[in-house]
Amino acid sequence: PQTMRTVTDSKQFLFGVAVRPSDLLDPKDSKLVQDNFNILVAENIMKLQYLRPTESFWNWSDPDKLVQFAESNKMKLRGHTFVWHNQNPPFISNLTDKEKAIQVLKETITQVLTRYKGKFYEYDVCNEIIDDNGQLRNSIWMKTIGRDYIDMAFQTARAADPSVKLILNDYNNEYAGTVKGDAFYQLVKDLVDRNIPIDGVGFQLHVMAEQPIREDALRANIKRFKDLGLSVSFTEVDVRIKLPVTPEKEAAQEKIYMDLLRIALEERVSSFVLWGYTDAYSWIPGTFAGYGSAHPFTKDKTPKPVYEKMKQLI
Ligand code: XIL
Repeated sequence: PQTMRTVTDSKQFLFGVAVRPSDLLDPKDSKLVQDNFNILVAENIMKLQYLRPTESFWNWSDPDKLVQFAESNKMKLRGHTFVWHNQNPPFISNLTDKEKAIQVLKETITQVLTRYKGKFYEYDVCNEIIDDNGQLRNSIWMKTIGRDYIDMAFQTARAADPSVKLILNDYNNEYAGTVKGDAFYQLVKDLVDRNIPIDGVGFQLHVMAEQPIREDALRANIKRFKDLGLSVSFTEVDVRIKLPVTPEKEAAQEKIYMDLLRIALEERVSSFVLWGYTDAYSWIPGTFAGYGSAHPFTKDKTPKPVYEKMKQLI
């Protein structure tokens, strides 16, 4: 049988996964990653907490290995992420001075995109900057710089590497006609109207098996971003199940994975990236108490039935 990688490469469909350093080192895991995915994103190591833990220390070694692994396996890369309210080092969380914050923001983006110029296909310049009420989140960047941080981040990224697609990424932003989905759209439209260099949006799509995909609202949302001239990526897909797992819940999960994939293919989304492939290393149980079994490979790293169906569909 063909590997997923053979299928996605032949269709030129970018199908990827978030990886940890050990996914590239462990022989079994790295083989699995090579056989299944043609675009990778770091689950954690390019977050500023790890990448720039202090103002003067940069931890390039893990990202360098990721870039090297992707190159030697002819994979593309997503970057994740610069501006975020989580997983920042103390020297950023403790910023108070506006000019200092601007300097740190610009310097961080410029250093990374200069070192990796031409290496990334797309990059989450800003992540989760809208809160659940549809307001700009009161992050450290918002508090110190004000809303101009968004323009600055995208402009700095464009100047440092004109070849990387610049993305605004978020969760619960996938449906037109919701408070957050519409606020996200309005923010993006305003950026486009003002010629701020943004190339696409990311829908994380951390979803639940008990909530069916609202296909019309998702397609309408994709369409309105396409109409702005932007790409849409599905950036962090997982479908968590409220434990215990039952055959009914697994069927519901399967339907959601298949719906998302079918819509992605039909609407030509730019990339479809799983937030982890196996339940063995999942972030879900630690974040959503009582949930699990969210990924298309089991704890022993064998594909679930849905995975074969996904391969057939592509
Ligand atoms: C998660 C990682 O998977 C965890 O390992 C980490 O402890 C916390 O962050 N939205 C995002 C991702 O943009 O960066 C988050 O990743 C999941 C939610």
